[in-house]
Amino acid sequence: MPQHLLIENIKSLYGITNPATDKKSGSQMSELNSIENSWIYTKDGIIQSFGKMYDETHQSLSAILQKEPNLTRINANRQFLLPSFVDSHTHLVFAKTREEEFVMRIKGKSYEEIAAAGGGILNSAAKLQQMSEDELFEAALQRLYEVIGYGTGAIEIKSGYGLTVADEIKMLRVINRLKHVSPIPIKATFLGAHAFPAAYKNNREAYINLIIKEMLPIVAQEKLADYCDVFCDQGFFTVAETDLILKAAANYGLKAKIHGNELGYTGGVQIAVQNHALSVDHLEYTGDDEINCLKNSETMPVGLPNCSFFLGIPYAPARKMIDAGLPFCLASDYNPGSSPNGRMGFVISLACTQMKLTPEEALNAATINGAFAIELSKTHGSIAIGKIANFILTKPIPSLAFIPYNFGNDCIDTIIVNGKVWIKPN
Ligand code: NIG
Ligand code: FE
Repeated sequence: MPQHLLIENIKSLYGITNPATDKKSGSQMSELNSIENSWIYTKDGIIQSFGKMYDETHQSLSAILQKEPNLTRINANRQFLLPSFVDSHTHLVFAKTREEEFVMRIKGKSYEEIAAAGGGILNSAAKLQQMSEDELFEAALQRLYEVIGYGTGAIEIKSGYGLTVADEIKMLRVINRLKHVSPIPIKATFLGAHAFPAAYKNNREAYINLIIKEMLPIVAQEKLADYCDVFCDQGFFTVAETDLILKAAANYGLKAKIHGNELGYTGGVQIAVQNHALSVDHLEYTGDDEINCLKNSETMPVGLPNCSFFLGIPYAPARKMIDAGLPFCLASDYNPGSSPNGRMGFVISLACTQMKLTPEEALNAATINGAFAIELSKTHGSIAIGKIANFILTKPIPSLAFIPYNFGNDCIDTIIVNGKVWIKPN
């Protein structure tokens, strides 16, 4: 039986694009096209049509009502409908939270000092290595359900807390199991190059070899990842090491996504662009050279304001990038160290208050540009005929700007996933 859904009496249907639009750049990011007093009709989870409730002829809506008497009808009661968020950067498979490091940072230690002393990513790796695949899967599934409830309708998840052959593969298997049960699409990214394990501190080459000669062949053979990421930054992987790993990954057909320029002007952007990376993420240290480099590329710049907020580091200069004509994307970076929160609603509030994006720009950054960063623009990230019906219906609120304004409160009433009201499984 086909599933038909009609949502009526929408105060404003936001985020409409041409189906061919894959991202928004520069001044296009201010455009969040909308239809007031509207309806949207979906069949088997795919957007079929949308329009105005009270247009002169009222034809299309009446035709749907006549043709499809078994419609599920939702009265939006004059609230807003938006495309679901696309969160293109998360680490939501992890073993334990790290609030003890949070307290150490409050008392004055820096993120880098904690990492250099064996905490940080290595702390998460030690805990993940102790945990079974099943336990990791159960915990990650709950986090996935949690963020779907916050309005995320497509997501990327990275490995990178395994750091041994067996544990990186274990993490990727968990992500692939999540793919099988998830109602929203998941892209998997291999991040074996997240940190050097302590045993390789003085033999970096051996760990790079382990990634290239042992991990990557299994990842490719078992088709465990869509992308390959490297943490290219001071104290982590150098530009030359990043280049080696990304080139090896490309030989296996894995496109690049990089963590870069979080801790300094380290050349992460340039090496991302040279390797035709889909995205370069973090960008807290981005100057004119980086902006010029991105201008001549297809690489999506991704900001992670939760990380700046939580670690107390600078925010990526998003305003400058958009004013230079670049696209800009926002993601949560959900992880236990630098962003223990996957609420995209909070991400857009930070983008508005700290990066000076307008609400429209922030929403485009968190939807269509997120979809571009994980190659889902054809199916997600906007309201367009033929796209998947993943939506957010808001609570009674006065305006679109109220969503980021009312920070910490997502203003979500109903989540629609694949054309159905989403109810969190027990
Ligand atoms: O994106 N910067 C590198 N990786 C993660 C944090 C990892 C961690 O601290 O556990 C990030 O912020
Ligand atoms: Fe990250």
